[in-house]
Amino acid sequence: QLYKSLHINHYILTSRLPKAGETIHGHKFFTGFGGKGANQCVQAARLGARTSIICKVRIGSLLLNAVEYVGQTKAAATGAASIIVDSEGQNVIVIVAGANLLLDSEDLKKANHIICKAKVMVCQLEITPATSLEALKMAHANGVKTLFNPAPALADLDPQFYTHSDIFCCNETEAEIITGIPVGNPEDAGKVGLTLLERGCKLVIVTLGAEGCVLVSVDERIPKHVPTGKVAAVDTTGAGDSFVGALAFYLAYYPHLSMEEVIKKSNFIASVSVQASGTQTSFPKRKDLPQDLF
Ligand SMILES: Nc1ncnc2c1ncn2[C@@H]1O[C@H](COP(=O)(O)OP(=O)(O)OP(=O)(O)O)[C@@H](O)[C@H]1O
Ligand SMILES: *[C@@H]1O[C@H](CO)[C@@H](O)[C@H](O)[C@H]1NC(C)=O
Repeated sequence: QLYKSLHINHYILTSRLPKAGETIHGHKFFTGFGGKGANQCVQAARLGARTSIICKVRIGSLLLNAVEYVGQTKAAATGAASIIVDSEGQNVIVIVAGANLLLDSEDLKKANHIICKAKVMVCQLEITPATSLEALKMAHANGVKTLFNPAPALADLDPQFYTHSDIFCCNETEAEIITGIPVGNPEDAGKVGLTLLERGCKLVIVTLGAEGCVLVSVDERIPKHVPTGKVAAVDTTGAGDSFVGALAFYLAYYPHLSMEEVIKKSNFIASVSVQASGTQTSFPKRKDLPQDLF
């Protein structure tokens, strides 16, 4: 399984979010690795997947284990994000993508052997769309299943993304940016799914936070709401990444499960992640989960 994009995250926990121009005191500061690619990779790995990440960082800036291709550059800083989380779990995030945006065709060529032997490739939009699309095409050409998470979303997404994604998985905000359809409930999410099928997608998943997900596939064309269990959310940051990481794990290791079953299990894993704070710190490990998930 393959993922892209990597950031160093700076977290600040506060009782409430500051208003524009306001200075407030927070009660906790910590750093951690993030980036949607890295997060999704970590969640899949914690479930037992063998994973690789293709990414780019500032030369000499960090050493990573279990990373098979790391491009290095002098031209930009390693991606970074500032994340402020209040006591209700609401957050604001600013990302500087930095070196992630310099990941290019040359890097992909050097990582070609890794791409070819993967079972699933997961791409996001925290690198340039052109590189992401090229990676999806390389994977597709080699029979590797592609899972695309259009995050952060672009309004004018290249239509080739639809046809080169075996699974297109977005949240409510991304769904609205991409299709123009505001999403507030499973019915709206179904409309998004049908619209994306018309654009060439084969299978669309729209995540709906505490409402779980809606699945629409080209085989049935009838939106299916897959709800999730009710839990006490502490911090939902990274729930989407936990979900995508879990989805990739099941697609790679349990290819014969039905999509609905895969989504139910991924919903469960993401719902565990919202019950602890932080992003990667909140992602559950296989040994701490009910064993009937595996
Ligand atoms: N409050 C919640 N209760 C239970 N499960 C949740 C909750 N929030 C999120 N989830 C699970 O996580 C999945 C992804 O959530 P969501 O749609 O909020 O993604 P996201 O918006 O990308 O997340 P993020 O908060 O990281 O931006 C949901 O489909 C669901 O399975
Ligand atoms: C969806 O993901 C985007 C990142 O692409 C994030 O900014 C947004 O808050 C998320 N939406 C919801 C409803 O959580």
